[in-house]
Amino acid sequence: MCGIFAYCSYLQERDRKYITDVLTQGLSRLEYRGYDSAGIGIDGDEGEPFMLFKEVGKVAQLRKLISESKVDMTRSFVTQTSMAHTRWATHGQPSRGNCHPHRSDNKNEFIVVHNGIITNYKELKLVLEKRGYHFETETDTEAVAVLCKYVWDSQPTKRLTFTTLIKAVIKELEGSFAFLFKSVHFPSEIVLARRGSPLLIGVKTDKKLKVDFVDVEIAPDSDKLDLLNRETASMLSVPAASNSNIRRTQSRAFLSDDGMPQPIEFFIASDASAVVEHTKRVLYLEDDDIAHIADGELHIHRLRKDDGMSSVRAIETLEIELAEIMKGQFDHFMQKEIYEQPESVVNTMRGRVNFDTRTINLGGLKSYLNVIRRCRRICFIACGTSYHSCVATRAIFEELTEVPINVELASDFLDRRCPIFRDDVCVFVSQSGETADTILSMRYCLERGALCLGVVNTVGSTISRESHCGVHINAGPEIGVASTKAYTSQYIALIMMAVQFSDDRLSKQERRRSIIDGLHDLPSQISRVLKQDKALQQLARDTLAKEKSLLIMGRGYQFATCLEGALKIKEVAYCHCEGILAGELKHGPLALIDEHLPVILIMTQDSLYPKVQSALQQVKARKGQPIVICNDDDDGFSADDRLIRVPKTVDCLQGLVNIIPLQLLSYHLAVMNGVDVDFPRNLAKSVTTE
Ligand code: AGP
Repeated sequence: MCGIFAYCSYLQERDRKYITDVLTQGLSRLEYRGYDSAGIGIDGDEGEPFMLFKEVGKVAQLRKLISESKVDMTRSFVTQTSMAHTRWATHGQPSRGNCHPHRSDNKNEFIVVHNGIITNYKELKLVLEKRGYHFETETDTEAVAVLCKYVWDSQPTKRLTFTTLIKAVIKELEGSFAFLFKSVHFPSEIVLARRGSPLLIGVKTDKKLKVDFVDVEIAPDSDKLDLLNRETASMLSVPAASNSNIRRTQSRAFLSDDGMPQPIEFFIASDASAVVEHTKRVLYLEDDDIAHIADGELHIHRLRKDDGMSSVRAIETLEIELAEIMKGQFDHFMQKEIYEQPESVVNTMRGRVNFDTRTINLGGLKSYLNVIRRCRRICFIACGTSYHSCVATRAIFEELTEVPINVELASDFLDRRCPIFRDDVCVFVSQSGETADTILSMRYCLERGALCLGVVNTVGSTISRESHCGVHINAGPEIGVASTKAYTSQYIALIMMAVQFSDDRLSKQERRRSIIDGLHDLPSQISRVLKQDKALQQLARDTLAKEKSLLIMGRGYQFATCLEGALKIKEVAYCHCEGILAGELKHGPLALIDEHLPVILIMTQDSLYPKVQSALQQVKARKGQPIVICNDDDDGFSADDRLIRVPKTVDCLQGLVNIIPLQLLSYHLAVMNGVDVDFPRNLAKSVTTE
């Protein structure tokens, strides 16, 4: 997934060195999203309106390219706007030419950075090529840059405002996007547009802002913008010059007491981790918002009036700290986030679980509880690790709510066009809140009238804003691509939901209280398992480091643990690993078992223990030498059994403890295999394209 960052300063003298440092630092905060190349676009000199620097590889290589350039880095600007981008290739190989910013022509009349996919870019290119425009890259983004120029060239009077021009362009696009536009025709201005890919704007001023919101401005004639009239090959009809009677309720946010614009800086990014070190005052754009920054002011426009959409955008205060997105004493974000779990699980429960009264209160669901309790079915829909947290909690939901529970992989749910009804409750679990398949599934369910809940980690994300209600898991920023603390926090959030949904069922009271007691002991139990890190590192080195394939098996609540453990090993250690249901062993996988294939068997004590014991015997009978995850007090093993002992907790919570050794094993295997642990090859932190 790509990363966008922009820096705009007004009445603040900044030289190019400062500007390029801010841009590359912003990109480095977005590296965790996964990318293969990076670029920046800054204001140029006379005769060269914009300067573009683009490089394949890491941000460090882009910095090197900039430092080796002959550009005068001492040139300063009182007002400027600049943009930056990390690219994860979707159309066209990683190359300098395919890096963003993309330009409209060799004079850089328009430059643009883009996150998302324009699905009709081929048609656009065809229309524009027929009108004499040329392309230099294979990307979908370039088609948008050239379309900007086409709109500009086509207007008779050259009096379009930047915003109106971009509205006309956006109207022609299909797909998902977050754009930043700059143009030589609108010096020191920048326009942002968002549809399906997040954008937020950090605001930094010396003086306190007069108000903490920005009004949304609706232009009545925007629906008439119809450029690419596909029915006729005639010249495009171009929107009228800017409509001077736009209903503008000028928010006074950015004006000083005497009504004059004040020195100000704006930091625009795909997510908060790139902004928080500059300011905590942020504004999130909504889908179809178009933001315009010029003369120290921020204006927000909409393509069309959306009933129900708020007429203001709040300037909120970020809760995350820079330290939270730094590695600290750890070698990798993944390692840090594994070790954060005793604390992150507490944060997930904080203010929601009362261990004295043994009650749970999820404020975000309170007003929907009656609807939820009358639902016909609960569908959980997610991807990857988030899906595994749903598998892990399916059984306890069934037990406590006695309602049918579906657990769906979002992509398959959409492929099947699964029937959804008004009396369904659909729960969308997503760390980033921006996963395309999960968002599309949510919108599919919203259209069918189901009650849609979001369980997300990222505040302000699309799923958290478009669902009817939900729960923030409060795990703190998760930077490592391999999800660890988000898994345990999602798992706990779902457990809390199951307990809260069933607090009206007398027959479940004892079970609910034991679960709450189990949650109380969880942080210390996770800490105890983390203390085995050195032994697990040794086990990884001595037994698993050279393996090319690995089986993890378990039953019941532990099936999810097998799936999640297998995913961790696959995605960071690049080792094939399969999580299987122990009950399926005889239906095929047993053929794999011999003295060579490493097997991890999860055999912590619960009602299915005897059945898992039988699976252990079957593996041993075929000369298998399984590594067994078992409870501390289980004395049913011989001295030569290879054991990973973990504390015992309530059966439906045991997976929260059992996953820790598997997270650590996958981490150590990845380090031993020389993998870039936080940025595994081919993967992105959030998959914002289908
Ligand atoms: C898990 O380690 C992976 N990073 C991946 O499977 C991830 O869980 C999946 O892409 C879903 O992401 P989300 O939780 O942000 O929706």
